[in-house]
Amino acid sequence: MSFNSRSVSLEGRRGLVTGIANDQSIAWGCSKAFRSLGAELAVTYLNEKTKSYVEPLAREVGVTMMLPLDLGVEGQLAAVFDEIAAQWGQLDFVLHSIAFAPREDLHGRVVDCSKGGFLQAMEISCWSFIRMAKLAEPLMSEGGTLFTMTYYGSQMVVEHYNLMGPVKAALESATRYLAAELGPQGIRVHAISPGPLQTRAASGIAEFDELLDKAQSKAPARSLVSIDDVGAAVAFLATDAAKLITGETLYIDGGYHIID
Ligand SMILES: NC(=O)c1ccc[n+]([C@@H]2O[C@H](COP(=O)([O-])OP(=O)(O)OC[C@H]3O[C@@H](n4cnc5c(N)ncnc54)[C@H](O)[C@@H]3O)[C@@H](O)[C@H]2O)c1
Repeated sequence: MSFNSRSVSLEGRRGLVTGIANDQSIAWGCSKAFRSLGAELAVTYLNEKTKSYVEPLAREVGVTMMLPLDLGVEGQLAAVFDEIAAQWGQLDFVLHSIAFAPREDLHGRVVDCSKGGFLQAMEISCWSFIRMAKLAEPLMSEGGTLFTMTYYGSQMVVEHYNLMGPVKAALESATRYLAAELGPQGIRVHAISPGPLQTRAASGIAEFDELLDKAQSKAPARSLVSIDDVGAAVAFLATDAAKLITGETLYIDGGYHIID
């Protein structure tokens, strides 16, 4: 296939976006980018309270389907995929942009974390991506792309990232295994690793401002990333132009990760 504007189009493609909490969410930046390349979207919201923030955003970009998804509620994830199967019958991409760890475990040393806190963080932030891949597989008979969000604290000990470090390391490893297992069916799988962004999830991390200052001063680009920067890269990876790129952990961090 020669490269042209059709190669970077998502016209006629359908995707599921999870993890929009508000207009600062990384998933919102991705939604705008997916829509601007022409994709049709289904988006999820955590609960009735979050719905009031997500609904106007969904309206702004013309989302087709809005569905509730709290991963702590048994059966709700399967119900999302059932609804997509019923309404669309197929799916081209899924964005998993969800993470959670109980505050007391996140704010302590990894060595002190509780079994319950560890398992809950793994379930909501990592296992749910594996389960989404399982539920998406039958809907991606023509191929597709799965995305999750990770962070550099998986590779290096980042002060205050604590328990989320090992959880994101598991998520990146799962990404590679899923990419290998689903690749023969044309399903690609990526972990996206943005630099620090001031979002609701980030507000749970202690001394987050220090992380932002360090990222800005140390990154070769001398710049923080925006949700739109992340969205542009993710939308590109969902297109046919990126059809032979899979299993990546892609840093969108102004180059921060290459500097000692
Ligand atoms: N903000 C950053 O600096 C940064 C950097 C790298 C990676 N990330 C990752 O990006 C992803 C999105 O986070 P964000 O920064 O956009 O923050 P955010 O708070 O906007 O998004 C987190 C989302 O997780 C959802 N969520 C939490 N528990 C859930 C549950 N039980 N069921 C369903 N949804 C649940 C929330 O509703 C929210 O929409 C996360 O995986 C995060 O770890 C964030």
